[in-house]
Amino acid sequence: MFNADGGKANPASSNSHSPDEHSSNERPSSKSGTESRALSGRKIVIAIDGPAGSGKSTLAALLARKYGYVNIESGAMYRALALKAIETSASLDDGPALAALAQASQIELQPRPEGNRVLLAARDVTERIRQKDVTDAASKVSVHPPVREWMVDHQRAMGTDGGIVMEGRDIGTKVFPSAEVKIFLDADPEIRGNRRFQQHPALSEKKAAVLTELRERDQRDRTRANSPLEPAADAVHIDSTHLTLEQVTERAMQIVDAKLAEIRNR
Ligand code: DC
Repeated sequence: MFNADGGKANPASSNSHSPDEHSSNERPSSKSGTESRALSGRKIVIAIDGPAGSGKSTLAALLARKYGYVNIESGAMYRALALKAIETSASLDDGPALAALAQASQIELQPRPEGNRVLLAARDVTERIRQKDVTDAASKVSVHPPVREWMVDHQRAMGTDGGIVMEGRDIGTKVFPSAEVKIFLDADPEIRGNRRFQQHPALSEKKAAVLTELRERDQRDRTRANSPLEPAADAVHIDSTHLTLEQVTERAMQIVDAKLAEIRNR
């Protein structure tokens, strides 16, 4: 949770689920993850990056639950700013003006087991920011360096104490370059388009349009001058094209458990 006052966000102490609430209310199904965390005594930062529709949010939410961490969907912050820009008829091409708009906005993320609840000036915009106009606008506002600077500052403030799973495009490269675990999750565009479509069947768009839009967004995210989507040099790649969600989760937990064991044995 954060706001534009620059106040430090602390999702764990907000009125949303705290890590301990997760672990006591919904016991993690993985003993190994829970035990590792308890034994290591240290909460780490888990960074998950990848293109749209690769399953980052689902994986981040699952890992957060299993380890009793807080999950943050950084893309939701770009989306909330994009919605604000749309509602105030701000130009999507004016980086400094958009950064000033971010500064003047009150954006709040409330981590939940099923994903982040997003508030804009206390208004619940969780569903609204998934609509096509906001999706397009978010990709556009995110190319501007002043906007990214503002976002990165606020995202970093949320992870200073560890115990966080943050997903996005530049988490392992820019936001938390020292994250203990970095995962780059990818899948063939066709598969990602299908998953996106199934996730949001209420979308009024046709499947082909969803895929075209996803490819355009991929292109913009990967080729922007500032913080393009790219794996960190030390990220572990998971290609989920031929994997089930369970297999992806299993693989990710092996990576996290190995890191926690390494920290414990230092
Ligand atoms: O993950 P998402 O689809 O909700 O992200 C929305 C847009 O925000 C996406 O086009 C890329 C951008 N984004 C970004 O540039 N950096 C991030 N860390 C997260 C999202």
